[in-house]
Parts: sequence; C-alpha cells; structure tokens
Amino acid sequence: MNMIETARQRVNAPARLRFLSRQDIVALGGDRSQIYMDAVEEGFRLHARGDYAQPLKPYLRNPNSGHIADRIIAMPAWIGGDDPISGLKWIGSKHDNPSLRFIDRASAVIVLNDNETNFPIALLEAARISSLRTAAVTGVAARHLARPNFTDVAVIGCGPIGRTQVQMFCEQFPSVERIHIFDRQPAAMTAVTDWLGDTFPSVQPVVHDNARAAIGAADVVVTATVTDQPYLKFDWLRPGTFLSNISIMDIEKEVFLKVNKVVVDDWDQCNREKKIINQLVEEGSFSREKLHAEIGEIVTGIKAGRENNQEIIMLNPMGMAIDDIVCARAILRRAEEANAGILVDLF
Ligand SMILES: NC(=O)c1ccc[n+]([C@@H]2O[C@H](COP(=O)([O-])OP(=O)(O)OC[C@H]3O[C@@H](n4cnc5c(N)ncnc54)[C@H](O)[C@@H]3O)[C@@H](O)[C@H]2O)c1
Repeated sequence: MNMIETARQRVNAPARLRFLSRQDIVALGGDRSQIYMDAVEEGFRLHARGDYAQPLKPYLRNPNSGHIADRIIAMPAWIGGDDPISGLKWIGSKHDNPSLRFIDRASAVIVLNDNETNFPIALLEAARISSLRTAAVTGVAARHLARPNFTDVAVIGCGPIGRTQVQMFCEQFPSVERIHIFDRQPAAMTAVTDWLGDTFPSVQPVVHDNARAAIGAADVVVTATVTDQPYLKFDWLRPGTFLSNISIMDIEKEVFLKVNKVVVDDWDQCNREKKIINQLVEEGSFSREKLHAEIGEIVTGIKAGRENNQEIIMLNPMGMAIDDIVCARAILRRAEEANAGILVDLF
C-alpha cells in the first residue's frame, strides 16, 4: 500500500472537493438575488443569536502599494444553525485592474469546510457571490429600514457592486420606478443605463452630473465607490432616507452623528481599520452605546427598524464572512443536488 492510500484510509474523511465556476453558479440560479436574500437573512439571524464564529478579518497589503483598494482580505467564519459549516472568502482587489488591465477590480474564491472533519469540500468562484450577497445585505436591511413602497433609489459608483445593487432593487422591490446614478466616469454610467434598458426596461435610469443631485432625488441611497475621501453631507439627505453605506468611506463624520439611527452589521468588524466609525470612536464622539443596532437584532425583532417616515437611517455594513459562507453553503447544497461542477480528488 502506498503512502497516499494509507493517508486516505487514516483520515476516513471526504477527500473530494467540488469546484464550482461562475458558469456553474449561474446555471444553479446563483445569478439572481433571491437565493442571496434568503441566505443573508438567515446569516443575520445566526449573528443575532451568537450562533457563529467570525475572527476579525486580516487585510494583506503589498507594502509597495498605498492605494486603499489594493489588498487581499481573508474572511473566515463558522456558521451554526441546522446545517453548520465553515469557510473562508479570499478576496483580492487592485484598484487599477479596470483601467490598466480591463478586468474587474475584485476577484475571489470561497473555500467551504465540512463541519465534522474540517476537510475542504468545495471551492467556489466568488466575485459574483460577493457582489450579490452585498446587494442582499442592502436588500434585507431595506425591508426593515427603508420607507415602504419607495420609488427612487440612488447608486453612487457604477462598478460591479453598484450595478448588482441596482439588479437587486429591480428584482426585489416592485415599487422602484427610477434609479438615479452618478459615477465620476461617464462610461460607467452609460454601461449601467444600457444594461438597465435591456434587462429591466420598466425601471427608468436617471443620470446625474454630481452625487448630490442623485442623492437628493432618492428615498434609498447606496454608496459603491472606491473613494477614501468622504464627501456625502447630512443636508444632502431627504427626510425618510435609508442610506446603505456599502463603500464605507464616502460619508462625512457629521452624518454619523446627525442621522436618527446608525445600524451596523457587526460592531467589532466596523470599529477598526481607521474606518469612519473607528475614527469617531477614537475621537470620543461615537460609541457602542450610540449605535442603534446590529442588523441581526432588527431582523429578529430585538430592536426596532424604521419607526416613522421622517427618520434618516444609515446602515454601515463592513461586510461579514458570515454573509459569504451562508450564501456559498446555499449554492453548494443546490450543486450537490444537481451534481453540478467538477469533483476533484484531493489526493
Ligand atoms: N461593505 C461590503 O460588504 C462590500 C462588499 C463588496 C464591495 N464593497 C465595496 O464596494 C465598492 C465598489 O466595488 P466595485 O467592485 O464596484 O469597485 P470598482 O472599482 O469596480 O467600481 C467603482 C466605481 O466607482 C466609481 N467611483 C470611484 N470613486 C468615486 C467617487 N468619489 N464618486 C463617484 N464615483 C466614484 C469608479 O469610477 C467606478 O466606476 C468598493 O469600495 C468595495 O470595497 C463593499
């Protein structure tokens, strides 16, 4: 018996990995928002119950690059519930990929590990999963924090993340009539309006020549830029706005202090890395006590969501590994049923 066979007998564990490409995931329905809405909501419930483990995510940066969007982030989590599983999203980013290489800024894979053995059981292409789960974070939150039947959405930044937020609104919220967009690159706005016209012709794109105009026309605002320079001021926001601060660094400090409710996904993940909340905490002007809630507390009814039509509510979601792992698990379970993807022997 050779060494490889001995090892396989000794571990008595699954020794096969299911590889799912983006095309496999699309064929399983993973290019639409619904599976991510359901999974992300379940992840928020697990978070509120404390039925998870989620170490703080390390940012790997090449010391020769100073750009905020040049990094690879490792995002591990274990999730409990009825079908516990562990996993890691490993997400790379180079700010100049789109301009220099004509490829996406972000790329990712997710590894899932069996709950019994901790053996890796799946490897998924994950840039699309990551975009759709990020859109679902806004979507699930909007069900609790936006005014009912909102009609106007503004998206600032029209890259893959911004466009996927638009897709989610069109698929999940039939009341949406107009999408107001602003991007500092006109070509990015043209791409979104063309795509919207082809894909969701009943929703009207409205192109603006500055962020303030787009934001002032909307009931729901999403930031999806790569800026490290806050620009969004409190008096740009209409009463009753729900603001989903996906790109984290766009919002001026005064907004955090003046809105009616600040909500995060996970306080410990948000209060670090010199992000705006972390800066405010270090200056002594914001704290865990001033936070209204973590979103899981709202989804499970522990804390109130929107309480009237005038409140301005901001969600500041750093992005949790739980979101990724719960979504990847949902895709994997579909793939197992359909026997989709490629099975690779580990040894
Ligand atoms: N919070 C989360 O969970 C989460 C998850 C995924 C991505 N993100 C963030 O979403 C952001 C967008 O990701 P992407 O992959 O679409 O990036 P991208 O670089 O492909 O696209 C960003 C777009 O924003 C535009 N832009 C940049 N600065 C701008 C500004 N100041 N005003 C207007 N437009 C501006 C760019 O022209 C570009 O079209 C990133 O900051 C990323 O870190 C957050």
